[in-house]
Amino acid sequence: MRLTILTAAAGLGALILATSPAPTSGQAMQPHHAGNAAAGKKEYRRYCVGCHGKAGDGMGENAMWIEPRPRDFTSAAFKCRSTPTGTLPTDNDLYNSITRGFVATNMPSWLPLSQTTREDLVAYVKTFSGRWQAGPGTPIAVPAETPATIESILKGRETFQKMECWKCHGPAGHGDGPSASTLLDSKDNPIRPYNFAAGSRFKCGSTNEDLYRIFMTGVDGTPMPSFADNLQPEDAWNLVHFLRTLQPLQTPEATLWQAWLPSHASELTPIGPQE
Ligand code: HEC
Ligand code: HEC
Repeated sequence: MRLTILTAAAGLGALILATSPAPTSGQAMQPHHAGNAAAGKKEYRRYCVGCHGKAGDGMGENAMWIEPRPRDFTSAAFKCRSTPTGTLPTDNDLYNSITRGFVATNMPSWLPLSQTTREDLVAYVKTFSGRWQAGPGTPIAVPAETPATIESILKGRETFQKMECWKCHGPAGHGDGPSASTLLDSKDNPIRPYNFAAGSRFKCGSTNEDLYRIFMTGVDGTPMPSFADNLQPEDAWNLVHFLRTLQPLQTPEATLWQAWLPSHASELTPIGPQE
């Protein structure tokens, strides 16, 4: 009898796994219930402790070999948020970060763990700082995307100049602007701006909506600021469209731009310091 129940449960588990949403889109991943911190603790001690440490302070035994360093959960500053700069992320944000991992760092994707396990880990990560008693910030609104046109890309290019993204990310987005080599994170470790030419996805997602959120909420704990106070939604979508032309990806924006540029390059003012 007991065996039958176990087999049935195992079968159900496989079914749930098979129908789990794909990890690529930030929106597709919705945790279905609040996790259990006590269960999460056991999983944390097994999978996370070597990097993030028993006390959640980012000082696990492997931490000294790792660059960038594992996150210190006691300071409760998180990079990937749908919420305004300086506020805590939602459970969903943490769940998505754990699921997708941090590209080009030692933080792996934990998609192989069950959904329940990842939910439990979210609950446990939140036990390391008293800040969580205040609860997460309110997610920013992301209004419907405007059409990706040449006009939109050109306006976005002006915003990239005006907001001085190039000072860190470089005129062509290669992560080599005049300030790039001087940047430190909140723990005084050197940090490089994202290189758009690398063609990788972002730490905090891969879709146009994820990109919108990244610069409208900022990457907390790093010099990458939030531009929510400086950009209207339309400016922000224009900027998203321009940023896509900096990546070696066949996005609709890049295709438009590559067709337009050869006959118009002379009309463009170079990006960078202006007299
Ligand atoms: C091999 C080392 C390693 C292991 C193991 C590891 N992490 Fe990480 N983790 C990192 C690093 C490094 C970062 C910081 C990446 C960065 O700042 O770009 C990070 C960042 C994070 C963040 C920060 C998210 C944000 O938005 O800032 C969370 C949450 C997290 N890890 C959870 C976990 C959980 C849960 C586990 C266990 C299931 C785990 N990590 C296992 C290395 C690791
Ligand atoms: C003061 C320097 C600085 C300025 C100005 C700046 N950034 Fe960044 N940006 C960074 C750094 C540093 C990172 C890397 C953060 C990390 O890897 O944790 C980054 C990362 C990013 C990322 C990738 C985030 C991810 O999830 O991987 C995007 C996209 C981005 N910046 C866009 C912009 C845009 C658009 C502007 C202008 C509106 C801008 N940045 C201005 C320093 C800057």
